[in-house]
Amino acid sequence: MLTLAVETTCDETAACVLRDGRIISEAVFSQIALHRRYSGVVPELASRAHLEKINHVVRAALEGAGIRLPAGARRKKIFDAVAFSRGPGLPGAILVGRVAAQTAARVFGAPLIGVNHLEGHLLACEFRKGRADARLKFPLAALIVSGGHTELWRAGGYGDYERLGSTRDDAAGEAFDKVARLLGLGYPGGPEVERLALKAGKKRPSFPRPFMDGGLDFSFSGLKTAVAYYLQDNPRPGAAAKAAVCAAFQEAVADTLSAKAALACRKYGLKSAAAGGGVSANSLLRERVTAACAAAGAAAVFSEKKYCTDNAAMIALAAQRRLESGGRLEHRVEVDPDLEIAGWR
Ligand code: KG4
Ligand code: ZN
Repeated sequence: MLTLAVETTCDETAACVLRDGRIISEAVFSQIALHRRYSGVVPELASRAHLEKINHVVRAALEGAGIRLPAGARRKKIFDAVAFSRGPGLPGAILVGRVAAQTAARVFGAPLIGVNHLEGHLLACEFRKGRADARLKFPLAALIVSGGHTELWRAGGYGDYERLGSTRDDAAGEAFDKVARLLGLGYPGGPEVERLALKAGKKRPSFPRPFMDGGLDFSFSGLKTAVAYYLQDNPRPGAAAKAAVCAAFQEAVADTLSAKAALACRKYGLKSAAAGGGVSANSLLRERVTAACAAAGAAAVFSEKKYCTDNAAMIALAAQRRLESGGRLEHRVEVDPDLEIAGWR
């Protein structure tokens, strides 16, 4: 089964050719340098950059797989499906991916499949060394932690998803990015905060663990505000003080996320947990989720770090899993920036 996928929901323009779960070729253009000076993604700039790069990126992925575009108006049946992220994400950015994917689907005479970007983040956990061999063990608790989303699901199988909780305000990644900005660190903030936290000594401020009320929703804006107040009271922090803030903040986030993931395992009797999305690249979070879930009797899995952040391989895999597990192929392809997770069986 051969799939072409494009991913453009945020600040990566990416394409991938996947054959039977094996990544044949990938191409990506990262817009990080473009958004860095604004310390966050500027939607209009993102859409324009996607538009400028998408043709090169798709072409590069096709060339990497040794696939040539058919000449003229001829069609060439090569792919079993062409997939794209239809949401959630930035409206203008997603549209660019949708137009590119639809064009490719026509050219290659393949069905177009609109994938939920967050489902992609979950399925990215299956990739090991370029192959989707590490099959998820359902039923499981899925912790999706990215720049725009923080959600917990119960996943009963491919296409069988139920949302158990989500953030009431900021996403975990957004909190990392905002705290990094408060500290004058670079963008994206998550990796910067993690790097600096490694240099922290034992003496650290103490920040609240928000929303530990026995429910499965999250809230991170209060934690971010606690950091802002701390910096008001302790202005102009030096390198050591910044490191201490990073470590304390990161611990609070990791504690909250891991406690909720473990709680979901307990509440729903799940023996497995999987974490995906950019923030799941964080080593402390991985440690804490692994430990908390183990205490709840569940084994935790993660994506390889490269596939935690946005990529097209996870979108291709989501389409492939849908095709091979006989999911309803209604080919829902309308763009939906607020798309919520739902089963497709
Ligand atoms: O999944 P992703 O690439 O894009 C979205 O779908 O939003 O996630 C990006 C987010 C950013 O907020 C970034 O700061 C965060 O993931 N992130 C991290 C780490 N690497 C990326 N957060 C904490 N620790 C990291 N190592
Ligand atoms: Zn993402």
